[in-house]
Order: sequence, then structure tokens, then C-alpha cells
Amino acid sequence: MLLLGRRVLLSSAHTLRASCQASRATPSFRPVNLSDRPLIGTAAAPNRRTMPERRPFVRLPTDVYPVNYGLSLTPDLIDFTFEGRLEALVEVTRATNQIVMNCADIDIITASFVPHGGEEINATGFNYQNEDEKVTLSFPSTLQEGSGRLKIDFVGELNDKMKGFYRSKYTTSAGETRYAAVTQFEATDARRAFPCWDEPAIKATFDITLIVPKDRVALSNMNVIDRKPHPEDENVVEVTFATTPIMSTYLVAFVIGEYDYVESQSSDGVTVRVYTPVGKAEQGKFALEVATKTLPFYNDYFSVPYPLPKIDLIAIADFAAGAMENWGLVTYRETALLIDPKNSCSSSKQWVALVVGHELAHQWFGNLVTMEWWTHLWLNEGFASWIEYLCVDHCFPEYDIWTQFVSADYTRALDLDALDSSHPIEVNVGHPSEVDEIFDAISYSKGASVIRMLHDYIGDEDFRKGMNSYLLKFQHKNASTEDLWDCLEKASGKPVAAVMGSWTKQMGFPIIVVDQEQRGDNRVLKISQKKFCASGPPDGESCPSWMVPVSICTSDDPTCSKLKVLLDRPEMTITLSGVGPHLWVKINLGTVGFYRIQYSSSMLESLLPGIQDLRLQPVDRLGLQNDLFSLSRAGMISTVEVLKLMEAFVNEPNYTVWSDLSCNLGVLSSLLSHTDFHEEIQEFIRDLFTPIGLELGWDSKLGEGHLDALLRGLVLGKLGKAGHKPTLEEARRRFKEHLEGRQPLPADLRSPVYLTVLKHGDGATLDVMLKLHKQADMQEERNRIERVLGAISAPDLIHRVLLFALSEEVRPQDTVSVIGGVAGSSRQGRKAAWKFVKDNWEELYNRYQGGFLISRLIKLTVDGFANDKMAAEVKSFFDSHPAPSAERTVQQCCENILLNAAWLKRDADDIHQYLLQRKAPLV
Ligand code: BES
Ligand code: ZN
Repeated sequence: MLLLGRRVLLSSAHTLRASCQASRATPSFRPVNLSDRPLIGTAAAPNRRTMPERRPFVRLPTDVYPVNYGLSLTPDLIDFTFEGRLEALVEVTRATNQIVMNCADIDIITASFVPHGGEEINATGFNYQNEDEKVTLSFPSTLQEGSGRLKIDFVGELNDKMKGFYRSKYTTSAGETRYAAVTQFEATDARRAFPCWDEPAIKATFDITLIVPKDRVALSNMNVIDRKPHPEDENVVEVTFATTPIMSTYLVAFVIGEYDYVESQSSDGVTVRVYTPVGKAEQGKFALEVATKTLPFYNDYFSVPYPLPKIDLIAIADFAAGAMENWGLVTYRETALLIDPKNSCSSSKQWVALVVGHELAHQWFGNLVTMEWWTHLWLNEGFASWIEYLCVDHCFPEYDIWTQFVSADYTRALDLDALDSSHPIEVNVGHPSEVDEIFDAISYSKGASVIRMLHDYIGDEDFRKGMNSYLLKFQHKNASTEDLWDCLEKASGKPVAAVMGSWTKQMGFPIIVVDQEQRGDNRVLKISQKKFCASGPPDGESCPSWMVPVSICTSDDPTCSKLKVLLDRPEMTITLSGVGPHLWVKINLGTVGFYRIQYSSSMLESLLPGIQDLRLQPVDRLGLQNDLFSLSRAGMISTVEVLKLMEAFVNEPNYTVWSDLSCNLGVLSSLLSHTDFHEEIQEFIRDLFTPIGLELGWDSKLGEGHLDALLRGLVLGKLGKAGHKPTLEEARRRFKEHLEGRQPLPADLRSPVYLTVLKHGDGATLDVMLKLHKQADMQEERNRIERVLGAISAPDLIHRVLLFALSEEVRPQDTVSVIGGVAGSSRQGRKAAWKFVKDNWEELYNRYQGGFLISRLIKLTVDGFANDKMAAEVKSFFDSHPAPSAERTVQQCCENILLNAAWLKRDADDIHQYLLQRKAPLV
């Protein structure tokens, strides 16, 4: 899954001197109490010797803080500049002659301060501290305690870096290129649009006015309350929005562009609109339906109403993240919002539903109650990444989305968190580059996984009670992780803070080692915990321990736990009464606990029939396979054992179980691409996937549903990529018919067919594919093609794909997946992509200005190498080409490369032998 695994115009400068009414804080929103806020936001000591060095960083002083921002902005969509005027109502809490604010890439023209009932004092100096993204305004006399108005005129650039206030390109139906002006402020980029106190705990209200061409749509967090012609230019209008609730700067947003929309009213009276590119309003209908169902779902779940009169969801052409939860104006990549019933595939629909569910959850969890500092970012993201599944499960039970959670989030988090270079969920951060760095799978996927475990531990009823009291207690304010635990602890009467602290404050997770003994009618289990490390059992290090909710079931009823215990010490003996010798025992029912399991060989052996006879639940079949795969990578069992286990899945009917297994086989195939027996693992894949491929066939059958469509796409893609001849032939035939317009490929078959024909294609295939890309009208189709282009095999064609990645044809946010596609496809591709990234480093780095896309690019490019020399090369490249926001990613990649190398050295021969012998005739 895209994390972070899948996102206008007018004549020259207008003089901006709009009067912005800086209004008082709306009475129902209390001003924030800033007094007991820590000033230092940086880490005291790194948690591990491997942690990057922290940069010194100091949070803003609060001797002057904002109560209301009156903000007026005039973007110039031709020259890509904007003019701004801030008139902020501020409170001076200690007499001072300077004001320190955040400010980056903005030029202040004039600044002054008007004390309540006093004379205007002009600022005499603007001292920019560029490194810290701050400005100090100096005044010739003291600003006394009390309220006053801070007025600042400034100018800035509508940049092309997809952050701050930036421009986004689109083409009109007549083929003309135009630009929209849009914002992306999280985490620390509001300061690029206007000087402000850009910290989540410094909340204020906002009165926003946009001065824009009259034929453009202008949107912001709140509804429009006034729209009047500009006094000096009849082509321009001043659009004024209602005062916002008290809120953090990172949630402010505005959009100026050309859009159509569809509208509906949710059952609780909120106006919901989905804004789409012009002429594509129909494509907003699916998201509109999801959003209008989701709002009442959250209203009910939280028992707190959505506090704004409207919510807009808008598709932005150039967009770095997947989506952003700006209060009342949620921005999305086009592919995370738009669905065309004919041309969108099932997985896109599912993705849109998840993203809408995620961003709307933030309207409460993040927007209404906001984390006190970025250290608690995981609260926002982990929680939203958990509840998006709850919401989708409510709206689309047929997606069986919780099983997919385990494959998409849970196992991904376990893999990352098993590295020495992981980090605790709660991590001290200060400098913006450190904040960017933590939008990762630990905050999102481990965060979501430990919340899922907690929800299971205390039960839905108490969980909801606790959530409700948390939201009520902290609404319009800020909160920390402890505050949430406190509310959940009170609601449940369980030791939530102690249990959860062990998961959020220390990195990593345990492996639970289990052995059993039969005593008459009782089964006696010995369970113990130790830290799980991707490099195998650590020697000699002091061992951390966790408070682990453990559930146990038996083959009597594999869907219901027979016993639940809290493992709060290194080891424990448990007696299960009435469990005869013929029954198997499974730990971690539902794969809810965030840990791996190592069964004794007798326990494991007895569990295996549960896979074949499907008595084990799908999620537990998946979990068992994934645990063993991960143990083999850590050298704790032989990879050959896992291959044997995988063969036991040949009759597997479940999409997600196949998908997870397929993903692990992909990892293995990538590892073995470094050997001369890569073809043998392809054969293994073909043999394993052929029966299910035959069963499914190419055409959907009557009565099939969402998961059948996903499974068919997965299996055909896997077979095609692995060179299964009948699949390749049929893919070519269907592709030809598609091109000729005789029989267009259904959307769900396009990815597997494109992948298959490209993988085994030549220059002409690439040409055709690039032509399809050019003709495509939907970003979803363009992305579909971009992601598989790297499958092409010939070196000169690989190079063409890499050049294409940086061309105008590919949206800047999608370059990363084209290069990643090349690196992930073959050994040659990996080498070529790495060389390309090195050769074009400056352009790539500059394009994303740090940010999380650069981390993703690095990971996709180098994670698959498998020798020690490459780890050293990657390290040395980034030592001399620093990417501060990707420091930890680089460490994680180097660690992964070394792990791959060790794995290959350890198991390659045995794997080779096994693959040969399974084909040898029996004598
Ligand atoms: N708050 C984030 C957007 C964001 C991400 C801002 C990174 C700044 C840096 C948003 O809520 C989010 O998490 N979006 C996800 C999609 C979600 C469904 C996982 C994304 O952008 O991938
Ligand atoms: Zn989020």
C-alpha cells in the first residue's frame, strides 16, 4: 500500500491591500494554554547507537502568541507569485521588543504592531534565521503585556515543490496548460505561505480572504461568507470565508483553480462536496457516497458531531502525499479520490474508500484534538490508519478489509521494526527534517497495529467510551499519548498506560517462544518472550520485555479464544484444561498481537493440516506463513521449510492469504535474482499459482465479488511475470484486442496484462505502452502504466524508462514509482536505477526538497541489493550527498542489504538443491 505503499490564472499582480477583519476568538473555542509547554523539542539521547545525530532545535517562544489570524492572499497564477497580508490579533504575555515567528521562503515587506488602544509601532528589522525557518521582528520600543495587532505585508512564490503554497499544473479541454494554486502545510510548511507560529499546539482562529480571478473556484477550510468584486479590477473577486474554529496552522488550506463538483448532504446535516477536474464530476460520486456514509459513522462512533458546516474533498493534480486532512477542505491525489465506473479497478475503489475513511477520521482525531507536539504524530496517523479499516469494514463488509490490514500494515510494521535502525513509536523530534522522517511505517502501520491490539484487549465498548471522553476532554485543544491512555484506562479499568507504554516507548517487539506438554487431559504451554531481531537472536544484549496480551485457541474452535492472558514477564506456564492430545493449539488468534511466534516443531507440525483443511482462519493462515517467512530471513529456520509450507497453500481460496504469500515470494525471487538459479524459483511460482489460475480463468463469472476480482488480477499478474506460457499468450492476445479497440480490457485485468506483455516485450511493446500513457485521460491509468514500465528487460529499454521517469510526461510525485518499478523488476533494473538516481541526484533531491518522497525513492531503489559491498557503497554515497529527512531510511536500507547478503550466503545452496530436487523424477 502506498504510504505513505500509493496525488489556475490570471492577469498580472494585483495590489493587495484588502482589509482583513481580524476577529476575536469565537467564544466557544477557548484560547490555548501555552504556559506549561516544553520549549525544547529535540531528543535528549539517541535510543540506539545507530540513530542519526539529532540537530539542535528550539521551539518558538510564547511571550507573544496568536489568537486570530486575519489572512488575505492574492495568488498570481501566471507569474507564480503571491502577495499576502496578515493582520493577527496577538497576546503579549511578557513585555518584549521582538517577535519570533516561523517564516520560510517569504519576503516580508513591512511589519508593524498596534497595541490595543495604542499607536502603531513599525518594525525596524526582520532577521531571518533560514536554517531554523524563523524570523525575528525587532521593534524600536517595548511591546507591553496585553493584546495587540500584528500587521505584516509579504510576498512569496507559488513554488513547484508540492509544499507550502504551490502551483499544480493541469490541461484544459482545449489543450491549454494552466495552473491551480493549492496548499500542503503538514508538517511544517504553513510558514512558506504566511509568517506564523507553525507549531501544532499554538492554535488560533483564522479569517481567510482570497483575492482571485472571478472565474476561478476559491476554497478554504470554512464556507464562503462574502464574495465581492475587487474595487480596482473587475476581473477579480475577494472571497471571504467564515471564521474557523481554533485550530493548528498545519491544517489550514486554500485552493484556487478550475473544478467541477458533486454535492450531497450527510444524514447529520453536513454539506459534502467532492471537487474534480472540470468535466469529471461523475468521477467524484463514489467518494461522495463513501464520505456521506462515513461522517455519520464517525459521529456515532465518537459521539461527537462534526463541528463545521461543510466538508470539501478535492482532487489535486500535483500532490506529494496520498491525501491531507485539512479541516473542512481535504486534499487528495487524483488517484485517491476519483473513480470512473468503467475505467477504475477494484483496488482503486478500495483505496479511495480507505483514504476517505482515513482523512475524515482526522477531522476528529487530529483536527479537533491535536497532538501536543510531533512526537505524538503517531497518535494522529496510527489511529487514523486503524479506524479507516473499521470504517471501510462498516461501509464495505464484502472487502474483508481486516484480513487485508494484516498483510498491508501489520506485517509491514513487523518487518521494519525488527531492524536495529527502527525507532520507538514515540520519538523525540525537533527540526523539520526530523519531523518529515517520522511519517513512516512505524507511526502509521505499527501505530495502527498496536491500537488494534489495544482495542482487542479492552473491547469495543470500553474503547468507545474512552475515546469519547478523550475527545470531549481535549476538543479544541492538544493532547499527548498519555492523555489517551488515561481516558482508555479509566473507561476500561485495565492497565492501559503500562501495557501500551511497553509498545510505544521502546522500539521493536517480542518473539513468543512456545512449547507444549500433554498432561492427561490438560495441555501445558510454556511461553516466553525475547526481542525479535531481523538478524537473528541477539547475543548478550540486555533484553527488553513487553506486556503482551496473548490469546490462545484450539482446533475445537479456531475462531474463538479459549484463554487470554497478559504475558507481563519473561516467561509463563499456562495450563489449558480439557485439551486432548488430538487437538492443535494456536497462539495469537486473529493475528492481533504485535509479535512473531516460534512454535516448537511438534506444535508447528500439528498446525500445518489446519492450513490445508482451511480450519485455521484466513488471517491466521496468513500470519503463520508470514511469521515463518520472517524467521527464515532471520536465520531461525531454513528457507526450504518455508518453501515447503508455501506448497501447502496450493488449494488456498482466500485473496489476502495469496497476496501475502505472493509478496513474500516476490522478496525471495528478488533475492534469488542475485544467483544463477533465478529461473528455478520462477518455475516454483508458476507451479504454485497454476491451479488457482486455471480455476479462476480470465473472465469474471456471475456472482463473483470484489475479492474475486482482486485475486484474479493478482494470480494472472504473478503467472505472467513468472513466464507462464499460456498466461503470456493470452495476455498478448487480449492486449492486441484492447489496442485494436475490439475488446477493451476490463480495468481489473489491465495491470496484470500490461505487466506481462512488458516483461516479455520489446521496444515496440514499450512504444505502444508509452502511447497508451499519453492518450490516457485518467491519472489512474497513467499510474497503472508507469508502475509496470520497469518490467521491460532489455538494458537500452530500461534506460528509456528511466529517462521517461524524469520527463514532463510523468507527474513529479509519480517519478518515484517509475524508478522504483525499474529497481524492483530485475537485477539489471536495480543496478540501472541506482546508477540513474546517483547520476540525477541533484535534480531528484531538488525536486522533492527533502520530504518523504525522497525516502521512498531511496528505499525502492536500494533495498533489494544483497551484498556487503553495496551496503558500503550506499552508505558512502549518502555520506557525501546528505538527505537529512531520509537519514534513517538510508540506515534501514543498508541494514536490509546486509541482511539480504547474509540470507543469501546462508540459504542459497539449500534453496537451490530443494528447487532442483522437487523436479527430479522419483527413483
Ligand atoms: N496527514 C497525512 C498526510 C501527510 C503525509 C502530510 C505526510 C505530510 C506528510 C494524511 O492523513 C495521510 O496519512 N495520508 C496518507 C494516506 C492514508 C490513507 C494512509 C498518505 O498520504 O499516504
Ligand atoms: Zn493521516
